[in-house]
Amino acid sequence: MRKTKIICTLGPATEKTETIRQLIARGADVFRLNMSHASRESVREIVPRIRKLANELGRPIGILLDTQGPAIRTGPLKTPVVLNKGDILEFTVRGAKKTEKKSVEVNYDKFANDVSVGDTVLVDNGLIKLVVVEKKKNRVLCRVITPAALGSRRHINLPGIHISLPPLTKKDIADVDLGAKLGVDFVALSFVRKPSDLTELRNLLQRKKSKACVMAKIEDQAAVESIEEMIRAADMVMVARGDLGIEVPMEELPLIQRRIVKNCIRLGKPVVVATHLLESMINNRVPTRAEITDVANATFEQADAIMLSGETTVGHYPVECVEVLNRVAARIERSGGAGYAEAAILEDARQKTVAAAVVLANSLPRSKIIVFTRHGTMARNTSNLRPQRATIFAFTPSEEVRRQLSICWGVYPIRIDFSADPNVTIKTAQKYLRDQKMTTPGDNLVIVSDSVSDGTRSDCVHLRTAQ
Ligand code: PGA
Ligand code: MN
Repeated sequence: MRKTKIICTLGPATEKTETIRQLIARGADVFRLNMSHASRESVREIVPRIRKLANELGRPIGILLDTQGPAIRTGPLKTPVVLNKGDILEFTVRGAKKTEKKSVEVNYDKFANDVSVGDTVLVDNGLIKLVVVEKKKNRVLCRVITPAALGSRRHINLPGIHISLPPLTKKDIADVDLGAKLGVDFVALSFVRKPSDLTELRNLLQRKKSKACVMAKIEDQAAVESIEEMIRAADMVMVARGDLGIEVPMEELPLIQRRIVKNCIRLGKPVVVATHLLESMINNRVPTRAEITDVANATFEQADAIMLSGETTVGHYPVECVEVLNRVAARIERSGGAGYAEAAILEDARQKTVAAAVVLANSLPRSKIIVFTRHGTMARNTSNLRPQRATIFAFTPSEEVRRQLSICWGVYPIRIDFSADPNVTIKTAQKYLRDQKMTTPGDNLVIVSDSVSDGTRSDCVHLRTAQ
C-alpha cells in the first residue's frame, strides 16, 4: 500500500464523473477545488458527486477547498498587450482613466500605496518582470524588464512587499461559507502571512459549524519567516511552490521545502508538497526525468501528500499523472525515507504510547498497526512517526474523521461503530481486515487501543497475530 497520499485538483479536464472515478481507481486520495478558478455553482454540484463515487468505491476520499486569498490580479483585456523591453506599463486602480498607451487595471485599490519606486513587480507566474519607476495617486508606472504579452486577469506577485489586503476577502468568506455547508474536509488559506490569519479562518469555520481542518499555504516570504508559529497555528501545511518559487529566490526553494517538511514532521502536522510535480505532463504522456526525481525527492522527504494542479485541471493526461505519482512514490517508499520523524516532539503520554507501538512495529516482520481513534489524534500521531513498513489501519466511528485522515501519510482510515467493550471493537476491526484481505494469517498486529481494567480506561499497546 502506497503511503504518500495523492491530491488532484479538479478542473475542466477532470470534472466528469467517469474521469473522477478513474482518478480514484488509480490512486487519488483527496480532491482539491481551487476557488481561484472554480465557480460556486460547480462546487455545489461536484461535492455530492465526489461523495457518492467515494461511497460506491468504498474509498476514504477527502475534499479540500482552496481559497483564492489576498491575491492581486490584473484586470480584463480585450486583446493581449505586447510588452517590449524598456516599455512603460501603467497599472491603474480605483477606476482611474488610462494615461499611457500600455495600461491595465489592478483589482487591488491600495496597490499604489503598497509599492515603492524600485520595487519588482512580477506578472503571470513570474514570466513578466517589471520595476516600479513612478507612483501617482491612482496609478503606478513600471518599466518592462522581460518582454512578453500580457493577457487578461493575470496574477501579480510582489516579492517581499507587505500587502494590506485582509487575509480573507469577501469572496473567500462566501466560498468558505459554501464549503462549510457542503461539509468539505479541509480548507486551505492562500497567501497566509501571519499565524493570526489562520485563527480568522478557524473562527469563521467555527461560526459556520464546520469541523474542516485549516491548511496554511506557504507561498510568500512573510509566511516563511514565521514558519514555526505558522505550523503550530495550522492543522496542516502546504508548500505552495508555484507562488513560493516566485516570491523567494528560486535557489532557496528546495531548501525551504525541506525545512517546512522537516518542521511539520517535528511538530506533528501533515504537510503537502504542491505544484509543478509533473508540469510537462500537461501536454506529454510521459514525465521528464527531472520531474520523476522531484516526485521521488518529496516522497523521500516523507511529505504526507503530493499534489497535482494544472496536470489534472487542464492537462491532457490527468489519469496518467496519477499513475506516475503512484508508481514513483510506491517504489521510493520501499527504499526508505529521510527519517525526519526521529526528531518528532513527543509531548504527552498518548504520543509516547504511540511511539512505543511504532518501535514495536518496526522491529517485527510483517507488521501492521491498528489504531482506534475517535477524533483522529492517535492516528495522526502514529502517522507522524512514519513507521518503516507497517500500514496504519485507523478505525474511527466518525465518517468526518475518516475523511480527514485521507491526507495523512501511511494511514488507511476505516469507519466502524465502537462498542462499549474495547475487546469487541478490536475483534470487529480484525474481522474487517481479514475479510478485506488487508491482513493475512500470521501478520503481526500492533494494536493501539483503549483498555479497561478495574473499571478505568487507559491507552494500551498490545500484539496479536492475525488469524
Ligand atoms: P495555487 O496554489 O495553485 O492556488 O496558486 C499553489 C501554489 O501556489 O503552488
Ligand atoms: Mn498559489
